[in-house]
Amino acid sequence: MTTDPADPPATPAPTAADPAEPAGAPVEAVSCTGLTHTFGDTKAVDGLDLAVRQGEVFGLLGPNGAGKTTAIRCITTLLPVPAGMVRVFGHDAAKERMGVRRLLGYVPQQLSADSGLTGRENVALFARVFDVPRRERAARVDQALAAVDLADAADRLAGTYSGGMVRRLELAQALVSAPRLLILDEPTIGLDPIARTGVWEHINAVREATGMTVLVTTHYMDEADQYCDRVGLMHRGRVRALGTPVELRRGLAERQGTETLPTLEDVFRDIAGSGLDDNTGGGFRDVRSTRRTARRVG
Ligand SMILES: Nc1ncnc2c1ncn2[C@@H]1O[C@H](COP(=O)(O)OP(=O)(O)O)[C@@H](O)[C@H]1O
Ligand SMILES: [Mg+2]
Repeated sequence: MTTDPADPPATPAPTAADPAEPAGAPVEAVSCTGLTHTFGDTKAVDGLDLAVRQGEVFGLLGPNGAGKTTAIRCITTLLPVPAGMVRVFGHDAAKERMGVRRLLGYVPQQLSADSGLTGRENVALFARVFDVPRRERAARVDQALAAVDLADAADRLAGTYSGGMVRRLELAQALVSAPRLLILDEPTIGLDPIARTGVWEHINAVREATGMTVLVTTHYMDEADQYCDRVGLMHRGRVRALGTPVELRRGLAERQGTETLPTLEDVFRDIAGSGLDDNTGGGFRDVRSTRRTARRVG
């Protein structure tokens, strides 16, 4: 398949010779133990334990201010790991930052595409930054653009793209290095339902072709229910419930003794209680930055 951006792979396939991946049980794609990150008096991430299995789509869910972005930024090595341990395919995020970065593609919550460059130029920039070998770059940029259905629009300025196209461009940027782990922070925020579906279809097509692991944050519970193999419900800096969407929904139905299956949103309300409605997390900074992103992609 010529449109597969992971073909040929940029990162070496795991082998028994990789000291971080001993033979036997596969290491987790992401493992956080006791991860804590504090801003001033705010414990954004507070003893987070999290394990993402290889090949799964894992959804980290929670309201604004739950600590999702901070946790993601520690996993991507953009923030340090002040307390606890973060490993990506066995590599320590505190000690092997470049080793971790080479394994992952990242679509940040804030926009990462430059509106003054064409789609192709944006993706090419990421190919350079992420060390795609020079000889392979042009072909790999083409493949990544084709994988997200932007081949025809590749030479237009990104500033002329619709919100859904911008998000797909960012996906191409993250995919050009053929990551083993794709991390997306609120990839569909501010998009209409059709554009949201489009983003997910492209993620899933690449995943099926490559076996890539996906870690995604969202506060759209319906989306997580539909697309995630497992979800972790995060509230006040920690994962409070973990399982497949159906497991979590059945669990609540059993606790409540109801026949009809509750939604993931119901599960979240049950776990977070009134804490979901108060404003202890989040606050103005989150609302403002969320709106800004929504406006720019919308
Ligand atoms: N750079 C920062 N400086 C100060 N506080 C921050 C910063 N980033 C996040 N926070 C605070 O940390 C908490 C968690 O934020 P964040 O990780 O962005 O949550 P989420 O992504 O779930 O909305 C919030 O209370 C937020 O205001
Ligand atoms: Mg966030």
